[in-house]
Amino acid sequence: MAKVLLLNGSPKANGCTATALNEMISIFNKEGIETEIIHVGNKDIRGCVSCGYCEKNGKCVVNDLVNEVAGKFEEADGLVVGSPVYYGSPNGTILSFMDRLFYSTSFSKQMKVGAAVVSCRRGGNTASFDVLNKYFTISGMPVASSTYWNQVHGFDAEDVKKDLEGLQTMRNLARNMSFMIKAFSDAKEKYGLPVVERDAFTSFPDGK
Ligand SMILES: Cc1cc2nc3c(=O)[nH]c(=O)nc-3n(C[C@H](O)[C@H](O)[C@H](O)COP(=O)(O)O)c2cc1C
Repeated sequence: MAKVLLLNGSPKANGCTATALNEMISIFNKEGIETEIIHVGNKDIRGCVSCGYCEKNGKCVVNDLVNEVAGKFEEADGLVVGSPVYYGSPNGTILSFMDRLFYSTSFSKQMKVGAAVVSCRRGGNTASFDVLNKYFTISGMPVASSTYWNQVHGFDAEDVKKDLEGLQTMRNLARNMSFMIKAFSDAKEKYGLPVVERDAFTSFPDGK
């Protein structure tokens, strides 16, 4: 059975971001896709210290939720990252988590489907959305889209329940993501994964 991991960057397990993610889960359930929501924002997650431990050991030197989720991410077919907007950006905890998750894992993420979801009261949503999508697009992960940029509006969960277009965007996003996961699964059988070249790493004009 295909599986999607959903990360909630908010410190609130039942806040606005969680409401958006739960709307997606209702569709994944109908589509026969297994889900697991992981609350990241209420944990003490430090940032990457660029120590290089992961390059030799294949996991982060800080043995916390990042290493736990890494194994689940490797098995998953899709990843949704949700975040509240803090000062026009994703919140600090989810950024620390995503930096360490993506940097410390060397397994192929190719064709795992990614989606970013943001929740704000008023502004900074599209800038935050762009930041989160960049983890996917440097990793060979196709990004699922919807009928609007993937955002809901509200100060608390009750507001988000009244953001009907926001919730509709979440449902359409989950439908598109489900379709992509199923289609990629079939295509992998039929064509195999595309070849990935990795020999070049920063090329300077003198070729050295
Ligand atoms: C530190 C902090 C900074 C915030 N900055 C913004 C902001 O830049 N733009 C905005 O519209 N809302 C901002 N908000 C409000 C939250 O983004 C908004 O209430 C969000 O929907 C909360 O989601 P949650 O319930 O999942 O935590 C901020 C909230 C906090 C706590």
